[in-house]
Amino acid sequence: MNKEVRLHDKIFELFISHEEIMKVVKNLAAQIEAEIKDIPVFIITLKGAANFGMDFAKYFNKNAIFDYIRLKSYDGISASGKPEVILDVTENIEGKQVYVLEDIVDTGNTLETIIQILKAKNPASVKIVALFFKPEAYKKNYPLDYVGMSIPNKFIVGYGLDYDELGRNLNDVYQLKQ
Ligand code: IMP
Ligand code: MG
Repeated sequence: MNKEVRLHDKIFELFISHEEIMKVVKNLAAQIEAEIKDIPVFIITLKGAANFGMDFAKYFNKNAIFDYIRLKSYDGISASGKPEVILDVTENIEGKQVYVLEDIVDTGNTLETIIQILKAKNPASVKIVALFFKPEAYKKNYPLDYVGMSIPNKFIVGYGLDYDELGRNLNDVYQLKQ
């Protein structure tokens, strides 16, 4: 792994190793697996949670349905108003136990929109599973049911997360170098 990577005009430095991330993902999957009763629906938020979602699936050993939702909320590194729905879920989630697999929760704007969209489809429950969470940036009141790692309010890339579409394929997570 590289200590530093360059994406567009910015330099990012190594922050969390792939090994560490995998331990966190494995723990989240094991925890939810132990608690689940019915067949859950895991909704992977694209594009950022694609890596997380597939690794989570690998470690989740009970029957489950996977679906996807895609919103666009970030332009570069600054938040841009209300997130827009680009791809909605296709499974019927009515009466189902729904778990939203989020790569990162920052202000919570994206999460709020996702919860509104999903709740309108009358699921039995909607729980939030955030791999990364920035508590200092969070502006909403929805409790996060499962948090992989709480991190400082710094911009990160890798393991699905991008800076202007670059960096998603990095296995480790890097943070913006000041
Ligand atoms: P929120 O709506 O402010 O909570 O932001 C959530 C979305 O913004 C995430 O799903 C990411 O796509 C993006 N985002 C937030 N923080 C970061 C970051 O540090 N790096 C890369 N993308 C981020
Ligand atoms: Mg993004």
